[in-house]
Amino acid sequence: MTEGLSLQKMMKTTPSKALVIRINLVFLAFFLVIYASLLLRPSSSVYFQNAASLVRCSLRECHHKMKTVLEENQATKQKLKGNMTKIEVPSFMNNMGKGMKIGMVNMDEDNVSDWKIHGETIPIYFERVSEYFKWEDLFPEWIDEEEELEGTSCPEIPMPDFKAYDDMDIIVAKLPCKYPQELWNREVFRLQVHLIAANLAVKKGRRDWSWKTKVVFWSKCRPMLELFRCNDLVRQEGDWWFYEPEMSWLEQKVSLPIGSCKLALPLWAKGIDEIYDMSKIQSTTRTAKREAYVTVLHSSESYVCGAIALAQSLRQTGTKRDLIILLDRSISQPKRDALAAAGWQIRLIKRIRNPRAEKDSYNEYNYSKFRLWQLTDYDKIIFIDSDIIVLRNLDILFHFPQMTAIGNDVWIFNSGIMVIEPSNCTFNFLMDRRSDIISYNGGDQGFLNEVFVWWHRLPRRVNFLKNFWANTTLEASVKNELFGADPPKVYSIHYLGLKPWNCYRDYDCNWNIGDQRVYASDVAHKRWWKFHDGMDENLQKFCGLTKQRKIELEWERKMAREMGFSDEHWKIYITDSRRKHLIN
Ligand SMILES: *[C@@H]1O[C@H](CO)[C@@H](O)[C@H](O)[C@H]1NC(C)=O
Ligand SMILES: *[C@@H]1O[C@H](CO)[C@@H](O)[C@H](O)[C@H]1NC(C)=O
Ligand SMILES: *[C@@H]1O[C@H](CO)[C@@H](O)[C@H](O)[C@H]1NC(C)=O
Ligand SMILES: *[C@@H]1O[C@H](CO)[C@@H](O)[C@H](O)[C@H]1NC(C)=O
Ligand SMILES: *[C@@H]1O[C@H](CO)[C@@H](O)[C@H](O)[C@H]1NC(C)=O
Repeated sequence: MTEGLSLQKMMKTTPSKALVIRINLVFLAFFLVIYASLLLRPSSSVYFQNAASLVRCSLRECHHKMKTVLEENQATKQKLKGNMTKIEVPSFMNNMGKGMKIGMVNMDEDNVSDWKIHGETIPIYFERVSEYFKWEDLFPEWIDEEEELEGTSCPEIPMPDFKAYDDMDIIVAKLPCKYPQELWNREVFRLQVHLIAANLAVKKGRRDWSWKTKVVFWSKCRPMLELFRCNDLVRQEGDWWFYEPEMSWLEQKVSLPIGSCKLALPLWAKGIDEIYDMSKIQSTTRTAKREAYVTVLHSSESYVCGAIALAQSLRQTGTKRDLIILLDRSISQPKRDALAAAGWQIRLIKRIRNPRAEKDSYNEYNYSKFRLWQLTDYDKIIFIDSDIIVLRNLDILFHFPQMTAIGNDVWIFNSGIMVIEPSNCTFNFLMDRRSDIISYNGGDQGFLNEVFVWWHRLPRRVNFLKNFWANTTLEASVKNELFGADPPKVYSIHYLGLKPWNCYRDYDCNWNIGDQRVYASDVAHKRWWKFHDGMDENLQKFCGLTKQRKIELEWERKMAREMGFSDEHWKIYITDSRRKHLIN
């Protein structure tokens, strides 16, 4: 249920040229033409200037700038000597005994003499990331994920020389926290300290009988949920946070790319990548464990048909996982029966209000998706929006940890398909933050992107969005080829804009409306209807038109005719028999 309109509005606020380029970089031929012309007139594009300066800063030419920064840091450090902040030892340390080896990260400027009663303190040396290193260097909007050009790469975040250290009993780290400054949660230095602590724990942490290691943070802000799960939090005392993370889980997290600058799993369609052993992963996901595919319907019945089609499409991929649907009271009994017949196991939920949303607004209850985290009888779930149909088996996604998704724009992920690890603790966290986290679009996508800022990128083919931002014939032909390909080349199609079941089957009714036309694809539309026709007739009944919708459609066609849209879809003779068998 991705919010076509608001997404589109958001996209329009970015420089249009950047937008055009972003989309088209996918296509080699077009890219070359643009690139050549930009090389001739570099000043003509804001985007490319920015891009160039970013690259320069994170690579070579800013080195002198970085050096001065480093030197300045040295100077301030000198001044601080002799006036160090005393770091008190939290009381829970008393239960841990003495004679420990304590690795200390980012605490060179603090007086840790009190810790010595617990053992040896070992300062961990590392080079702090440059201030010119920005979040968007790690989470770029576009990456060459199909490896058509130079492929993908991530900038390097300096790490300590792990070999230089022996095993440690406990890792203690001081986390920077710029809250409440804007973008405090997207500070690269903050991530660096988290990653160092996580890597130290994995590589040098002594594990207990249950394969856990002790990690302690000193921080005004809560440590990143993405790396230090709230289930692993053992104690909190003032600004002290004591975790016992499970090492097998953390090991996978730190083995993944450090940002969406690289795919968590390189290209699926072509298998260019030789390093990655796909067969191994596939074998780990072949047996169904406590895992399920899940979707959510709330507040209205408008997506019932979509959810029926989704279940059928999932079943056709041969998955053995459970299919779970979360429903609120607004879905009537006959609709529930149909959803069950389609393959869903039904769970009733109470919908969740966004306290910041206006009353009776279209996204007032969009936080209902948080209920996904309450499905604690599963270790992992793949959430799928009900306006998606799945064309290829997605079981391999169960290999990945939370939060794994495809890119949407800037540094955010699309919440249409997500890998989620249910947890009551995470659920409570989301609920507690409902009023103070601001979602850019009032929807769950904006909210979740503020909570899970550090996520893992899937190839866009996993959740292929039906939209055409660039509005070029090249984009249209490439995408329509992907939508239509049989056997399928994309794993799923995400029907943004007006939904196929709300159109006549003769053509994609997004063509009728000016600002919806970026979502119009007759090829994708046809594919959906082919799917529909393969469904049981008793289920097809739930995809009918209401009287109201028929009136709207006729009116929209009339408007399109008056506007004289040159594609002339409004001229198409309507054969759809659903017009004559309206539903309630
Ligand atoms: C740290 O604190 C202890 C006493 O609490 C003091 O003796 C020592 O000089 C301090 N060290 C530094 C480097 O400030
Ligand atoms: C030590 O630093 C603090 C602030 O960090 C400052 O308030 C204090 O005056 C300094 N003390 C000395 C002796 O320099
Ligand atoms: C999560 O909370 C629900 C009740 O809200 C409870 O039934 C369930 O057992 C809890 N799950 C775990 C893993 O504690
Ligand atoms: C909120 O949910 C509704 C219905 O599920 C959906 O149509 C809409 O696009 C969502 N809006 C946002 C902003 O997520
Ligand atoms: C694409 O752009 C052309 C002109 O540049 C415009 O007339 C047309 O309506 C656009 N199509 C869509 C789907 O936005």
